[in-house]
Amino acid sequence: MLPVDPNKKLSFTRSICDGDLVIVYERHDNMKALKVCKDSVLQNRFGVFKHSDWIGKPFGTKVFSNKGGFIYLLAPTPELWTLVLSHRTQILYIADISLVIMYLEIVPGCLVLESGTGSGSLTTSLARAIAPTGHVYTFDFHEQRAASAREDFEKTGLSSLVTVGVRDIQGQGFPDELSGFADSVFLDLPQPWLAIPSAGKTLKPDGVLCSFSPCIEQVQRACDTLRSNFTDIRIFEVLLRTYEVREGKRDCGQADGGNLGSLPRKRRQRSSEGNSAHDNLSYPSVMARPCSEAKGHTGYLTFARLKCLS
Ligand SMILES: C[S@@+](CC[C@H](N)C(=O)[O-])C[C@H]1O[C@@H](n2cnc3c(N)ncnc32)[C@H](O)[C@@H]1O
Repeated sequence: MLPVDPNKKLSFTRSICDGDLVIVYERHDNMKALKVCKDSVLQNRFGVFKHSDWIGKPFGTKVFSNKGGFIYLLAPTPELWTLVLSHRTQILYIADISLVIMYLEIVPGCLVLESGTGSGSLTTSLARAIAPTGHVYTFDFHEQRAASAREDFEKTGLSSLVTVGVRDIQGQGFPDELSGFADSVFLDLPQPWLAIPSAGKTLKPDGVLCSFSPCIEQVQRACDTLRSNFTDIRIFEVLLRTYEVREGKRDCGQADGGNLGSLPRKRRQRSSEGNSAHDNLSYPSVMARPCSEAKGHTGYLTFARLKCLS
């Protein structure tokens, strides 16, 4: 996903090699992760694609099947991985993840603790944010989930940046060896208030904690616990409005343009002045309108900063 060479350098420009993970993109709502294997083929409704044709091409290339159908071969970024990973649990999506990375002030070199690991959706973005010199320690009490997450981090090439531990964080807290080392801690647990005292011990002074909870009652209990050792408590609910972009025919003569992508009426009138030859013509245009199935509430993100005791 993010090649880290032994000199701890990141490489962003790469061609596809045998054994690489690629994201096969048909449309924005139809993608899957695939390992390139020189003797294999991909067969879908567009025809047959030989993997050997992909090797040596840059990521992002459009490749064609035996029938002239096409797909794009994209580099497996954390953003795309979140859309194709196998859902073993509820996961965090890009809107929440972006806010988490910013408010937790995660930069290359940071040491980040997380629990639970779940499907590793957030962990993948945490790993990219701390690379190439930082580390993510993530814990889940569910052995099989932890094992599957490890396999995924091998697959995505992130395993040197992430350690997955099996541990009951609500019952036992984070390991003592990590006390005072964490730049930030992220909790996605059913009873986060049980893990907050231990999270406080692992944080460096001034470190930031974030807890994700779907229900406001969980947030209230977490805040009650946070008040003793943390300050600057903030709660966010991220509501994202997604627009669908597609090509269509725009009718200039229509009173309202017929879609949300058209210009406001006054501007349209002005912009078409002296352009009467185009009136009542329809021509291709790009239109945007809010997606009908946009996601609503996912959960609440509670952030708090460890008090510095002098
Ligand atoms: C909703 S999932 C986390 C999803 C993750 N944030 C993601 O983006 O993929 C919650 C995880 O917490 C784990 N969990 C629940 N209670 C736990 C505990 N006491 N200690 C450690 N992990 C726990 C569950 O096994 C589950 O995998």
